[in-house]
Amino acid sequence: MTARAVAVIGAGTMGHGIAYVATLAGCSVALTDSRPEAIPPAIRRIGDLYTGGVKRGKLGEADVAAAAARLRADRDLGSAVREADVVIEAVVEDLGVKQRLFAELERAAPATALLATNTSSLSVGAIASAVRDPGRVVGLHFFNPVHAMKLVEVVTHERTEPGTLDRALAFVRQLGKEPIVVKDAPGFASSRLGLALGLEAMRMLEQGVASAEDIDKAMELGYNHPMGPLKLTDLVGLDVRLAIAEYLHQTLEEPQFEPPQILRDKVAKGELGKKAGKGFYRWSD
Ligand SMILES: NC(=O)c1ccc[n+]([C@@H]2O[C@H](COP(=O)([O-])OP(=O)(O)OC[C@H]3O[C@@H](n4cnc5c(N)ncnc54)[C@H](O)[C@@H]3O)[C@@H](O)[C@H]2O)c1
Repeated sequence: MTARAVAVIGAGTMGHGIAYVATLAGCSVALTDSRPEAIPPAIRRIGDLYTGGVKRGKLGEADVAAAAARLRADRDLGSAVREADVVIEAVVEDLGVKQRLFAELERAAPATALLATNTSSLSVGAIASAVRDPGRVVGLHFFNPVHAMKLVEVVTHERTEPGTLDRALAFVRQLGKEPIVVKDAPGFASSRLGLALGLEAMRMLEQGVASAEDIDKAMELGYNHPMGPLKLTDLVGLDVRLAIAEYLHQTLEEPQFEPPQILRDKVAKGELGKKAGKGFYRWSD
């Protein structure tokens, strides 16, 4: 089944990217945010993505015009989701906020709409527990930047209906992305693997095994990773990685997820990575 109408809740880093790819996939998209001031920059960023696509010869002017015409910003959550086939939540990573939002979405969206969360670390089952029909809830974990990253983790919790999974897979493919199916386990597949590598790289740096550059090169040149784990941590944000490590350490109770001291120290000093100008590397724009 092809999705026609999509609502994206949260117009931040992920929400604007998801809205962008959905418009290009032929969906009419309503983008909403609880902070009205978040909308204009999101629309500008989507505009920049269209322009960039045309400049690089990836998109035609007519396709972009058609896609842009399918996008609307809606300040009101109720009217944004009223006719949606698929609702994707991309709001702040806070279980209480997401649960309250899903309870509201269940009331406001059509009963047939797929309800998806883009959470990167929370339990999809816990989010789904906020609705009466949790079988329609699934995780759709997109990657940043959404327009460039091919992978979407489709996360099923214990009560996800098989039909919901099928629709989620079809939707991901409609967006031109590649889905993988992952159970609702902490860190899913990608964060758990990525973090295990990132934290080990930090411990190696801490122990003086090699420099940050050389640890990264080990993975870039030895394993063909496009980017080493420390540089990647700088891009993601050290604070973000610390929060995920703490969560995985608590939930999986595995020692490899205990945050290394170097990570805690850098976060305490405000060395949060590229966004702060300094992390494991120095950055200037
Ligand atoms: N940034 C990433 O690299 C990344 C990658 C994958 C998944 N995620 C997940 O995607 C979600 C969004 O992350 P982000 O980086 O886009 O965050 P962000 O802070 O850039 O954007 C979140 C937006 O949600 C809005 N918002 C907050 N509460 C809301 C509510 N109740 N209703 C409507 N809007 C609300 C905020 O005003 C903000 O504009 C999080 O769950 C995050 O874990 C992030």
